[in-house]
Amino acid sequence: MKTTQEYLDIINDALLAVSYPVEPADLYDPVKYQLDMGGKRVRPLLALIACDMCGGCVDDVLPAATGIEIFHNFTLLHDDVMDKADIRRGRPTVHKAWSENVAILSGDAMQIISYQMIGRTPADVLKPVFDLFSATALQICEGQQYDMDFEGREDVTEDEYIGMIRLKTAVLLGCALKTGAYVAHAPQETADALYRFGENLGLAFQLQDDYLDVYGEPSKFGKKIGGDILNNKKTYMLISAMRMAEGEEREELARLLNSVSVSPEDKIKGVTSLYTSLGIDRLAMDKIDFYYRNALAEIEGIPGCEPLRLFASELMQRES
Ligand code: IPE
Ligand code: IPE
Ligand code: MG
Ligand code: MG
Ligand code: MG
Repeated sequence: MKTTQEYLDIINDALLAVSYPVEPADLYDPVKYQLDMGGKRVRPLLALIACDMCGGCVDDVLPAATGIEIFHNFTLLHDDVMDKADIRRGRPTVHKAWSENVAILSGDAMQIISYQMIGRTPADVLKPVFDLFSATALQICEGQQYDMDFEGREDVTEDEYIGMIRLKTAVLLGCALKTGAYVAHAPQETADALYRFGENLGLAFQLQDDYLDVYGEPSKFGKKIGGDILNNKKTYMLISAMRMAEGEEREELARLLNSVSVSPEDKIKGVTSLYTSLGIDRLAMDKIDFYYRNALAEIEGIPGCEPLRLFASELMQRES
C-alpha cells in the first residue's frame, strides 16, 4: 500500500497526461481550467485504495479512476450553473470566467471524455465497470433534479433529503470503491461492502459539505459561504430548523426564507444565527458522525481495510 500523497501524485499525473485538442479553445480551455484548479480527488483516491487493498494492480484502475474524477468535475461545471455559484476552489467558476453556454458544452465534452477513460479499463472487467458507471451517472442526474425540485418545496422530509444526497453524491463514492474492487477481481461480497462503505461515507460527506457551506472558513472552503441558504436548499440543517423553530424564531425563519426585501447578507446572517441558537450545528455534526460510523461498520472485518479507515477519518477532518 502507498500513502495518500503517493496515490494523489499518481492521480494528478494521470489527469495531466490526458491530452485535449487545442481548438476550439472555448471548448477545451475550460476543461483544463476545471481540472487544473485542484480538488481533493476523493473519488479516484477511493478507487485506487480499494483496488490496492483488494490485491489489484493500481495501473489497471487508473483509467477508470481518472474517468470518474473527470466525470465529477463535469457535474461541478453544470452544478455551478444550476446553483448560480460564482466561486469554486477559490477561483471563478467556468460560467463566470467564460459563460453559461461554455460551461454547458465544456461540461458535455468532459462527460464524453470520462466515458472514453472508462473504456480503457481492462477488457475482462470492463462490462461491470461500465454498467456500474452508467447507472451511477444517471442516479446523479436524478439526485441533482431532486435537489433543484426541493428548492421550491417547504415540506421536504429528512428521508427525502437523505435519498436525494445518496443519489447526487453518495453513489459516486460507492461506485469508485466498487470499481476498484471489480478491477482487483475481489469477491462480490467485498465489492458490495465497499460500495455500502462509500455510500455511507458519501452521505456523511455531503452532510459535511452542507455544514461547511454555513460554518466553513471562507478562505479554506473555496466556495461562497451561505450559498445553500440563498438558494433555499433543503439541507438537513434547514429541514431541522423548519421543524424545530417555534414562536418568534419560527416567524423569523419564515420571514428570512420568504421575504423579498431581505438582503442576501442579512438572509445568510439571520438563518445562520437561527441555526446556532437552535443547536443545529451540533445536530448536523451528530448526523455526520452517524453516517461516518455506519460507513466504518460496513468494512469491519474486511482484511486490509486499514488505509480506507484512515482515509475516511482524514476526510472527516476536512475544511475544504
Ligand atoms: C463537491 O465535491 C461536490 C459535493 C459532492 C459535495 P468535492 O468536495 O469532492 O469537490 P472537490 O473536487 O474536492 O473540489
Ligand atoms: C453537488 O452538491 C453534487 C453534485 C455536483 C453532483 P452541491 O451543490 O452541494 O456541491 P457544491 O457545494 O456546489 O460543491
Ligand atoms: Mg448543487
Ligand atoms: Mg453547488
Ligand atoms: Mg454544497
